[in-house]
Amino acid sequence: MPRGRFITLEGGEGSGKSTQARLLADAIGARGHDVVLTREPGGTAGAEAIRSLLVTGSADRWTAWSEALLMTAARVDHVERIIRPALARGAMVICDRYVDSTRAYQGAGHGLSDAALLRLHEDAVGLWPDLTLVFQLDETEGLARAAARGDAEARFERLGSDFHARIAGFFAALPANDPARCRAINAAGSVQDVAARIMAAL
Ligand code: TMP
Repeated sequence: MPRGRFITLEGGEGSGKSTQARLLADAIGARGHDVVLTREPGGTAGAEAIRSLLVTGSADRWTAWSEALLMTAARVDHVERIIRPALARGAMVICDRYVDSTRAYQGAGHGLSDAALLRLHEDAVGLWPDLTLVFQLDETEGLARAAARGDAEARFERLGSDFHARIAGFFAALPANDPARCRAINAAGSVQDVAARIMAAL
């Protein structure tokens, strides 16, 4: 069976992942590759419906486990309907956030054990990226950028500075903890600077 490549972009709030995911998909598409640009939570009708439950409303709307299970339910739908079929036909899949966001937000942020979240991922999803770009940006700068966007999907932005500092700590450590899969990307500076760093990492 032909097998494409699965690349995920991870990082805290306002780190510029979504812009860079789009630029990367454009660059790969311009070289004639079949490319699928997608995001989590989301990417299918069912997963986008779950997303709206997760990213809107009051900060205490969900508990840690209800959040982790909703994120995983959305991921299962997305992986089975979009990502696995795209990889099977040989496409490059670029995904804005994936399981490392669950480990960072519901794990480091809300205190669930990483081992339990890894087990859940293995049992329910069972697909790992070939490459994960981990955006590194000071969380106060990222939160300021995200606040300036002022969109309605700000539930996680309201979870407090200690929560976001723990997430930044997880993403800071991830590339060294999993060097076979993950690359750190310095997300400070202009869109063009960051895009050039990504191309160099690829
Ligand atoms: P976005 O703002 O990057 O689109 O992501 C939506 C929010 O969902 C963001 O605040 C991070 C959060 N999130 C989790 O908490 N766990 C997850 O597994 C994923 C994929 C996202």
